[in-house]
Amino acid sequence: MEQKFIPKSLAASKESGKVTWQTPSNIALVKYWGKKNPQLPENTSISFTLSNCHTTTTLTYGKRKDVKGTYDFKVILDGKEQEDFKPKIETFFKRIERYVPFLREYTFIIDTKNSFPHSSGIASSASGMSAIALCLMSIEKEININLTEEAFYQKASFLARLGSGSACRSVKGDIVVWGEHENIEGSSDLYGIPYKDGVASVFKNYQDTILLIDKGEKQVSSTVGHNLMHGHPFAEQRFLQAQENINKIKDIFANSDVDQFIALVESEALTLHAMMMTSNPYFILMKPNTLEVINQVWAYRKKTGSKLCFTLDAGANVHLLYPENEKETVQEFIKNKLAIYCKDKSFIHDCVGNGAKQLTI
Ligand code: PMV
Repeated sequence: MEQKFIPKSLAASKESGKVTWQTPSNIALVKYWGKKNPQLPENTSISFTLSNCHTTTTLTYGKRKDVKGTYDFKVILDGKEQEDFKPKIETFFKRIERYVPFLREYTFIIDTKNSFPHSSGIASSASGMSAIALCLMSIEKEININLTEEAFYQKASFLARLGSGSACRSVKGDIVVWGEHENIEGSSDLYGIPYKDGVASVFKNYQDTILLIDKGEKQVSSTVGHNLMHGHPFAEQRFLQAQENINKIKDIFANSDVDQFIALVESEALTLHAMMMTSNPYFILMKPNTLEVINQVWAYRKKTGSKLCFTLDAGANVHLLYPENEKETVQEFIKNKLAIYCKDKSFIHDCVGNGAKQLTI
């Protein structure tokens, strides 16, 4: 299957150029946690694509005079050259070179910036890797003009996945599925696909406010985290549960069942953390303020009948999800009652978006 991503014509023709993509972050509703080599998920996951949290990357490329040794690139973040990002990108390049054979033929400048603050605890790997993947695909498109739009995005997602698993869900679509599932047509372990089954209007413009509880470096890297699922006593059961939860969320989306959405999404978040608490070695990634927020959300829901709920990444920050018609009241509640649990009272309002955009700068 991977074979189809190896291009037929290998020679790069363009001397030089520049391309810019803006790619979003995403938040998983059914979580990906556990993988096989090379970056293949143990279970299907599904996410909302975000809108305001995004990365903008300009890739400048020029033919190398003398192609010797390894890749030739530099990385610039917010105007400053970043040596420490290079090893991750080098690993990414090694993994994708089979599919992007012109990688060694160019000198690249990867100039990138995030719309959210650096080290805010918001993972930039999903948007960052999908941005590089899309820029490379734009170069491929120059060489292979017959590439269809569908093939372009599919391969971009395939490449992004090899950079960071969840990045394959940051390419196209408002709701994205990654990982083969018997009830989702076209789903694949190799790339994410836009979710095409019925989705009630309430979920089309869902809101996500990200509470920045802890802005530090991640306590456990995703790589270490995913590896903890190997030999984990509850792993098999968890992977089955995720497959079942995909069936459930399909019905929830189709039937506009917001109460069941809340139950499923919160359970997924806590299960992800439960997996980490029961692995060897074990970790607690929530902070006291994460729990304070969760309790406040539950109390608010009980008191007001609101449909506000939470989800978590592999860290202490909280994503608050709510329907658009509650935007005003929930945002008031966040400002007045939840901001105190955030580092420097900081949070980011976001909502479901449509995926990556090519920019002309
Ligand atoms: O893409 P990675 O390897 O950083 O893994 C991301 C895992 C979670 O964010 C915790 C869940 C998910 O599905 O996005």
